[in-house]
Amino acid sequence: MTQNAPSKAVKKLFIKTYGCQMNVYDSQRMAEAMGAEGYVLTEDQADADMVLLNTCHIREKAAEKLYSDLGRLKPLKAEKPDLKIGVAGCVAQAEGEEIVRRMPLVDLVVGPQTYHRLPAMVRGEAPRIVTDFPEEDKFDHLPERRATRRAPAAFLTVQEGCDKFCAFCVVPYTRGAEVSRPVDRILREARDLVDRGVREITLLGQNVNGWHGAGEGGEWGFGRLIRALAEVPGLDRIRYTTSHPNDMADDLIEAHRDIPALMPYLHLPVQSGSDRILKAMNRKHTADQYLRLIDRIRDARPDILLTSDFIVGFPGETDQDHADTLRLVEQVGFGTAFSFKYSPRPGTPAYDRPEVEGNVSDARLQELQALLTRQQKAAQQSMVGRTLGVLFEKPGRIQGQMVGKSDYLHSVFVEAPDAQVGDLVQVRIVESAPNSLRGELA
Ligand code: SAH
Ligand code: SF4
Ligand code: F3S
Repeated sequence: MTQNAPSKAVKKLFIKTYGCQMNVYDSQRMAEAMGAEGYVLTEDQADADMVLLNTCHIREKAAEKLYSDLGRLKPLKAEKPDLKIGVAGCVAQAEGEEIVRRMPLVDLVVGPQTYHRLPAMVRGEAPRIVTDFPEEDKFDHLPERRATRRAPAAFLTVQEGCDKFCAFCVVPYTRGAEVSRPVDRILREARDLVDRGVREITLLGQNVNGWHGAGEGGEWGFGRLIRALAEVPGLDRIRYTTSHPNDMADDLIEAHRDIPALMPYLHLPVQSGSDRILKAMNRKHTADQYLRLIDRIRDARPDILLTSDFIVGFPGETDQDHADTLRLVEQVGFGTAFSFKYSPRPGTPAYDRPEVEGNVSDARLQELQALLTRQQKAAQQSMVGRTLGVLFEKPGRIQGQMVGKSDYLHSVFVEAPDAQVGDLVQVRIVESAPNSLRGELA
């Protein structure tokens, strides 16, 4: 054995990520933590020594995916008895031991606030199931960021958990109370990412614009954090998601006016356009307050592209409530939006409320989605003829083609044979396709 030979044999880790961007970030951090244990990522599940499913509990369908995927792992586990199977994320947090009871092939269950303990769990030096909300901060126990994949755009979690308790939502239970990471840690992680070639960072949190923390000169709000990040040399683009309307503070709106690196894009879930339903959802704002907020944001940054989330068929929703939602959508004009049929989640306040009939919800969802699709088309069409910044993230399928994101987060395909991944170039948009744009180097 030479001196530099690794002390541990290389093992292969397959991770499947469900749910939101925060899970994508967590999967990267878990991969890094397991990397320190000698595990490298594989794309081939059949070749893995460990399979880790990082799960989402937001809707029933999302949670059920875990069990069907676990069912499909049975033959592989039978063939490779040493295969380790781990369940992480929000289903792990919500269901804990129940997962092992239902699926005995699962070796490890780890919640979103305890995954720094995963290496010890795999070594057998910690319990098989760890889903507490620990006092210690997992970020203090994770290895420094390492490049698991060289990519010019990265996620950075700055805030976790939620104290808002919307009546339909599991997040306050699966992710726990709102916690903001300290300024110095965030700035250090951002500089680290930039040193590794990252040019665009999306700041993440379930309630990201509620971030606050002690910084130079006193308490900082989220807008002040963005100002500090905009001064990191080499960080060309900043985005953030997801925000609550009630936490759109003045300093954040001003950041959209003043900071060129802050991209003209905002995901601001509203859920419904009916005050009655917003109240039943415990959203703590009215439709009109949302509309006035949008006006102020557009005054600060007129070209900003707005996106949102909607739930249709929330308990008690009438045709009039649904019409109010459609009217709000017409009034705002969204770039795109996610819309979901309400899914009752155990443990949430709305769980036992009488449900809207399934076919009524289906029809409302279709109607809303048709309107949102028209708005998406119009927003994309409005980009044609404009020259926009595009950050190339990967080569396209056609030789000489690159794919990147515009300032407004649209995917743009560009003929650019001499370009590299990571180039930030000016592109003239020439065509709008169903879910992307086509452009030419300007
Ligand atoms: N923190 C964000 C989003 C969290 S979950 C916010 O405040 O909006 C992402 C989206 O899932 C939500 O915006 C909501 O539209 C949807 N969602 C959450 N719980 C749901 C449920 N029980 N049924 C259907 N959709 C749900
Ligand atoms: Fe869920 Fe509401 Fe918190 Fe968003 S703000 S994570 S919807 S409870
Ligand atoms: Fe799903 Fe948990 Fe994210 S429930 S949406 S993975 S915070």
